[in-house]
Amino acid sequence: MPSPDSFILERDAVMCHYTEYVADYCEPFYCKDKDLDEFFSKDAFLYDTELLGKTYAWIDTANPTQIVAMVTLANDSVKAKFIAGSARNRLQRSVANAKRGMNYPAVLIGRLGVSAEFRGKGLNIGSQILDFIKGWFCTSDNKTGCRFIVVDAYNNEKTLSFYEKNGFKPLYKTEQEERDFLGLSPNETLNTRFMFFDLKLA
Ligand SMILES: CC(C)(COP(=O)(O)OP(=O)(O)OC[C@H]1O[C@@H](n2cnc3c(N)ncnc32)[C@H](O)[C@@H]1OP(=O)(O)O)[C@@H](O)C(=O)NCCC(=O)NCCS
Repeated sequence: MPSPDSFILERDAVMCHYTEYVADYCEPFYCKDKDLDEFFSKDAFLYDTELLGKTYAWIDTANPTQIVAMVTLANDSVKAKFIAGSARNRLQRSVANAKRGMNYPAVLIGRLGVSAEFRGKGLNIGSQILDFIKGWFCTSDNKTGCRFIVVDAYNNEKTLSFYEKNGFKPLYKTEQEERDFLGLSPNETLNTRFMFFDLKLA
């Protein structure tokens, strides 16, 4: 099916909790990333029942068996006291002095995938999902305090630029800084970069 010229999630899709019932009803989700496709086809349900991560799907209203995108979210926290000085300063830049150095409440984007039919086509679906999450955790009826959105972003140019374009910053300015923090040996690969978005600035 040809992809549309524009796709507004709020207008053209319905968001729902992704359950096995939804998965059975829809075509298999395919975002061209093997690990993510596998996660959404199997592991997402175990995360859900174990209360380790909740997955949401956006379904195309014009084609109700087509999942447009999925995201898995979990509560998290950023423990400032365990972060090296320069990275800690970057994180806390806009936090009130009196509240610096604490464990900051955060929401973790555990997984995010946009269907291959819709991604990278200028439809901005990934960005719309990030905007939705920013709004969701900033509303006055938010049940708990949540200061940051955090993600372990795939360490490749496209994914990193996607998050940067959406206002996320790498916690560690350089790969070496992050490698040092994680204690990686020179022959180990840095597969992900830790990035954050300060919801106070949303
Ligand atoms: C990363 C991903 C969620 C972005 O979704 P999207 O709907 O294509 O993103 P948007 O249209 O909002 O933003 C596009 C930007 O993302 C970046 N990008 C990431 N992957 C891209 C791709 N395959 N093709 C083109 N741009 C891509 C580019 O910087 C692009 O900016 P530009 O349009 O100014 O060139 C999607 O490509 C995807 O599902 N990728 C596979 C899984 C993945 O990497 N998930 C993130 C795990 S942390």
